[in-house]
Amino acid sequence: MSEDFSLIIHGGAGALEQIKREGNETDFVKSIHGILEGGRDILSAGGSALDAVEHCAIQLEDDPLYNAGRGSVLNEYGEVEMDAAIMDGQTFQAGAVAGLTAIKNPTLLARKVLEKSEHVMLIGKGAREFAKFCGLPRMSNDYFVVDSRIRQWREAQKVGRMMLDHEAAKPSQKLGTIGAVARDCAGNLAAATSTGGIVNKRWGRVGDSPIVGAGVFADNETCAVSATGYGEQFQRTVLCKMIADFVYFQNMDAQAAALAGIDYLVKKVQGLGGVIVIDRNGKCAVGHSTSGLIYGWIEHGGESLCKLA
Ligand code: GLY
Repeated sequence: MSEDFSLIIHGGAGALEQIKREGNETDFVKSIHGILEGGRDILSAGGSALDAVEHCAIQLEDDPLYNAGRGSVLNEYGEVEMDAAIMDGQTFQAGAVAGLTAIKNPTLLARKVLEKSEHVMLIGKGAREFAKFCGLPRMSNDYFVVDSRIRQWREAQKVGRMMLDHEAAKPSQKLGTIGAVARDCAGNLAAATSTGGIVNKRWGRVGDSPIVGAGVFADNETCAVSATGYGEQFQRTVLCKMIADFVYFQNMDAQAAALAGIDYLVKKVQGLGGVIVIDRNGKCAVGHSTSGLIYGWIEHGGESLCKLA
């Protein structure tokens, strides 16, 4: 067993007062800790970064605390439409799905797109048909829709606007989406991002999460990145690739590149969100322009750290 692996997961960025007010901080810490330890089991046994990020993203999708899979936010018609992507930094292969309904784990389907199709992205009905071909489980709408999301959606409908996950009609914001990045013992990097998008979004809206370079990116030569925040801002700045370019062209480490990326996001589009980054040397870093980010990491096989910061 080797211990030279690193792993970071996130459960969304934003102002976390609401979580603190509702007193479910410990639920998040427990969840992040458990998921990180599951990732540790894979990586310390010599498993691949790709397997580890897939595993962690699926666990986050299954936990209704987060805006991905079960617990996703609702669109303008009160329905769940999900986006996800996964990228292998060793091969530069990627798989993505968008506007997805009914499929329990969008990240699992994204991995199938990566492995079993000649494409990078499948959407809507075509993605569902491919999921059937791959034998993936389908769930009814009731599985995905949880009460807290219905309340949040009603609030957004009342004020007639789109909102980020957990954002109240008041200014508090938690920009949900989940993600995982890893570097395995062989030095390979991978990243995954999955989301229900933003509350009360237009039917058919696709955010940054399934778009390679915008909401997810991995390249063994530079770093692995997963983003959370207003998707349109990450799309317009191609932020995850921008962070990798800081490593590639300016030889920055994970911390410097994450901060430079967030500076760029703010400077160019006054962007709101966060990123998790592991560089080619296994250094872990986060950056966010929101007041908080829910995340946890294991750096070089050390103790796990969980933060709602
Ligand atoms: N970052 C998630 C979204 O905007 O859809």
